[in-house]
Amino acid sequence: MIVGSGYMGGGMAQCLILAGYDCAIADINEETAVAAKIRLVGEARAYEQDGLFPPGSADLIEERLVAAPSIEDAVRDADYIAEVVSENLAVKEEVFGRISAAAPADAVITSNTSAIPINVLAEFVVNPERFLGAHWMNPAPFVPCVEVIPLEVTLESVTTRVEELLLSVGKVTTRVSDVAGFVANRLQFALFQESMRMVDDGAATPELIDEVVSNSFGFRLPFFGPFAGADMAGLDVYVGAYKSLSAAYGERYAAPASLVERVNQGNLGLKSGGGFTGMDSAKRDEIAQYRNKAYAALAKLREELGPRPR
Ligand SMILES: NC(=O)c1ccc[n+]([C@@H]2O[C@H](COP(=O)([O-])OP(=O)(O)OC[C@H]3O[C@@H](n4cnc5c(N)ncnc54)[C@H](O)[C@@H]3O)[C@@H](O)[C@H]2O)c1
Repeated sequence: MIVGSGYMGGGMAQCLILAGYDCAIADINEETAVAAKIRLVGEARAYEQDGLFPPGSADLIEERLVAAPSIEDAVRDADYIAEVVSENLAVKEEVFGRISAAAPADAVITSNTSAIPINVLAEFVVNPERFLGAHWMNPAPFVPCVEVIPLEVTLESVTTRVEELLLSVGKVTTRVSDVAGFVANRLQFALFQESMRMVDDGAATPELIDEVVSNSFGFRLPFFGPFAGADMAGLDVYVGAYKSLSAAYGERYAAPASLVERVNQGNLGLKSGGGFTGMDSAKRDEIAQYRNKAYAALAKLREELGPRPR
């Protein structure tokens, strides 16, 4: 059951229905939930026409998705409840109170919060051993990652159940620590922070930054995260670059001590073997071949799609 039928909750409900689950959505009142259902069915029809959802998806969502009169009605017999209401602590506190009071005592409860620590939200949940974070990405139907954030108090069996459910919906689950911003948002916001700084300093425009990022390291990211990228570039190369960057921008761009230590030990990434991701230097050609194929395929896909509408 999904509490909060807005942008994220709506997409999550579509995914659950298409994976064969019963699903209800609840919101501030019945009218809002009913309006959300109408929107989600219409959206699914458009997705079908674009070949993004299989034929019959919209009819299935229309037939199976329940717009509940209230939160209490939605969760009364639920075994899985996702909280997806606005990112506001007071709203979440009220909603978790209502869910806890109305749902079965052993129903699994997750939060889709973007940045509120899960341990803070756990204070509002009765029986927090059945509570954890399950942070979907936007747009929910099309982005694979769900960050799964169990607390120490969360039962392992509960976390496993949530992961199994998400896998059955076709998502890629990754367990992450309960730190502010988890993994994805902490990194996204670090990049945005530095981007804003460049704009505010007059070093670049937003358009220029977007163009460079999507054509440079952003182009690599679907295949290689920051650590695989560093291993392939060479950790010694990174340490060298940090020297110039810290000379210009100060301490915040100093080479991390643990990186320098690796390089001093002769661990340079792919070229020496090892690195952060355990790359095998004997597979250098194989890795380069994969990389080249991946980048060529991505370039072709971008050409087929054309430039994004402005
Ligand atoms: N939009 C994103 O890109 C994104 C991505 C990942 C996670 N999130 C997180 O997901 C959650 C929802 O975000 P969203 O973008 O879907 O927001 P949204 O504004 O589209 O939807 C929030 C919904 O919660 C409902 N709501 C508000 N108060 C309520 C209450 N007291 N009882 C019941 N329903 C109530 C609203 O009516 C609305 O339909 C937030 O925690 C957000 O941080 C958002």
